[in-house]
Amino acid sequence: MPGSFRKVANTCDIQPGKMKRVELDRHLLLIANVDGNYYALDDTCTHEDASLSTGSLQGDLIKCPLHGSRFNVRTGAVLEEPAEENLRTYTVVIDGRDILIQWS
Ligand code: FES
Repeated sequence: MPGSFRKVANTCDIQPGKMKRVELDRHLLLIANVDGNYYALDDTCTHEDASLSTGSLQGDLIKCPLHGSRFNVRTGAVLEEPAEENLRTYTVVIDGRDILIQWS
């Protein structure tokens, strides 16, 4: 598997239905727990400079706190304007209690 994996959080820090913003090499990432599955995406909305981790997680959809764009947390796909670009997503691996993401 290409790229290296880096720890970004502990599973016990992010309960189901919750999100957390983490920083890795000065890059802001959002880690979300949807029904016990963890997903990693860029934290900054593709519309303007809003932190999506301060928005809301409804099922597998993230709603931006600033203008209400919605993104699919599994794929990063934008589902509602004004944002037009998808979010970048990252491969997540769970190792014990560690949440690792593929980072290259
Ligand atoms: S900053 Fe997210 S929709 Fe505008």
